[in-house]
Amino acid sequence: MKPARAKRIVLLLAAVLGAAACSSASHESSPGNSSAATAVANGQSIFQTGRDSAGSQIVAKPPALYPKCAACHRADGSGGVHLPGGAVSADLRYKALVTEQKPPYTLALLERAIATGIDNTGQPLNRVMPRWKLSKRDLHDVAYYVLTKLK
Ligand code: HEC
Repeated sequence: MKPARAKRIVLLLAAVLGAAACSSASHESSPGNSSAATAVANGQSIFQTGRDSAGSQIVAKPPALYPKCAACHRADGSGGVHLPGGAVSADLRYKALVTEQKPPYTLALLERAIATGIDNTGQPLNRVMPRWKLSKRDLHDVAYYVLTKLK
């Protein structure tokens, strides 16, 4: 077998195993293992490009004004972008989401905000923040990326 082909198979296996491990959300307690790395890679792809690792474009209902998180929240998650209707995108870095929030955002609260537009305090977010229709795995992975990688 050609090395490139073997490598592809290994990557594919890692992705499948990562998805299985991730759906049980068991890797949170052990960051740095390969399923966490797979989740971060998928989450980063969704956040920065609007496509998951499988190449599927993320969608929202009603359709999003821009097709990727980074378009509104900036690549570093710092936000502050002025959008139509007077909305300003939120700062998604750890300090703004966790350290300075009451209650602090958790993975579950982030997933709820991204999927339903309900914030950490139970209030609806501005409608410019899309209500994303993501698979369970994509929702988990983008929330995990935001929570652990945007500093
Ligand atoms: C079209 C612009 C736009 C896109 C695209 C977008 N957002 Fe937002 N987002 C906003 C705006 C505006 C707010 C602030 C809403 C408010 O203040 O009520 C927000 C708020 C949030 C919040 C709540 C933060 C808080 O402090 O309560 C989270 C979490 C979030 N966005 C995550 C994401 C993620 C993850 C994606 C990609 C899957 C994404 N957003 C894509 C515009 C956008």
